[in-house]
Amino acid sequence: MALSIILAVSFILLIAHIIYQSWSQQNKYKSLPPGPTPIPVVGTPQYLRLRDAIGNYNMLSKQYGRIFTIWKLSEPVIVLCGYEMMKAGLMDFPEEVCERPFLPVFEVATKGYAINGVRWRPLRRFALLTLRNLGMGKRVVEVKMLAESKRLVKAMAETAGKPFNASMYLATVVINTMATILFRGRFDYLDERLPELIVTMSRHINGVTSPLSTLCNFVPALLHIPQIRHKVIKDSQYVQEFVAECIKPNIETFSMSVPPRDFIDHFMVKIKEVEHEKDSAFCDTSLLMVTVALLAGGTETTSTSLKFALVLLANYPEIQAKAQQEVDKYTKNLRQPEIEDRPHLPYTNAVLHECQRILDVAPTALFHTNVEDIKIKDYTIPKGSTLIPFLTSVLRDPTQWETPEEFNPGHFLTEDGQFRPRPAFLPFSAGKRQCPGQWLARMQLFIVFAAMVQNFTFKMPPGEPQRDWKYLNERKYYYMRDAEICAEYRHASN
Ligand code: HEM
Repeated sequence: MALSIILAVSFILLIAHIIYQSWSQQNKYKSLPPGPTPIPVVGTPQYLRLRDAIGNYNMLSKQYGRIFTIWKLSEPVIVLCGYEMMKAGLMDFPEEVCERPFLPVFEVATKGYAINGVRWRPLRRFALLTLRNLGMGKRVVEVKMLAESKRLVKAMAETAGKPFNASMYLATVVINTMATILFRGRFDYLDERLPELIVTMSRHINGVTSPLSTLCNFVPALLHIPQIRHKVIKDSQYVQEFVAECIKPNIETFSMSVPPRDFIDHFMVKIKEVEHEKDSAFCDTSLLMVTVALLAGGTETTSTSLKFALVLLANYPEIQAKAQQEVDKYTKNLRQPEIEDRPHLPYTNAVLHECQRILDVAPTALFHTNVEDIKIKDYTIPKGSTLIPFLTSVLRDPTQWETPEEFNPGHFLTEDGQFRPRPAFLPFSAGKRQCPGQWLARMQLFIVFAAMVQNFTFKMPPGEPQRDWKYLNERKYYYMRDAEICAEYRHASN
């Protein structure tokens, strides 16, 4: 009896101690941005679910301002809203905020060798430099993109204006560009492995936000339970095994005596160069993980942006017709629009940018963490905080856009109809960790979008009413992935 009383009292004291520790931890930060009061120990779990981020952060930003604090257990999470705050955080402190928070699930899935893991710096620098050397933004990559979009037009024309899901077509064109650069690979539109690969890649990218992964990131010990571990990393493993199979022939035929043929060859050269170094970031594991990151990071984002852009065209026929007129007039339909035509197709380019602004494909980017204390406005953000760049709030910032709540290509046009870049156009985020593939993505988006405008009139399936951008955006995951669309070929009699 006495023992059970002692145990019960000890347990209560322990709980009280944990709560007190957590409460004092949460209260030790005197100059954090305002935010909802955290519950001791658990923080503000109701605001951490990324799937509800847009609604929650808009609401909290109205209540607390353009920078506010939510809590992951007893650790502060700072949400940056609007262009000025993004600038004050990511651009004014590029070095200080360039790390990522440590995510146990991610480290286990990538064995610690990913481009956004702990060894990111040399891997990212190498990837950027090599992509550039291989022709990022240069003619050699463009030629491949043009050839892929020609195949895409042919494949889409065969749908004969009937409703179809364009997602797989667009993902194939994007994945093929990436695969050519990375390992000189390409897939056919009818390749039976592709649908599963693309869907699994999407789950692999978004898996980090799943409830089970979130729980394991809070309680990493759970990853020691084989069933749980398998469940949280199985999609990553599938993609890794798939890519390992694709790059096997490249690795087997690699030779130091011939010039590097693709990204894999460059990586192999680098591995040889640093093989004497202890614990180098460049090894067989990082070769695979970086290739997976580039393939997966590039495919889902770019292809879903394109799909949503086609849905917007179908729902805004006047805007679609105006872009078609511009492309027809400039190319006289004698050739495909190329990247050097971009300055001559300002309206089409503006529509594409506005589609990206409206879609807002990565609302909370990837999380950052600061390696030093930083001061934003009058607040001190303590070293080691998580920072969330809330990109939605930048793409809709009323101080930056004339009509943020309208689908208006005019946002990107000067009065005399020329294209005008906008500083708050940040779908690729900002600062030192902004998307390393953005130049490739921008090129791919323009080439494919212009080819689509030139060759097709997009309509929603019969019986579906025209919707405004808000309706489409609120259901964006459906329209980006599952929705059907009709592509009427414009040159049927040619
Ligand atoms: C429409 C297309 C794309 C969009 C909107 C996009 C957006 C983003 C965003 C918002 C981030 C996070 C930046 C941050 O944390 O502040 C990111 C990271 C990343 N993106 Fe992209 N991206 C696109 C295409 C691509 C492509 C084509 C590639 C590959 C060539 C790529 C590879 C990556 C990688 C590897 C990272 C992680 C970088 C790091 O942690 O340092 N992305 N992207």
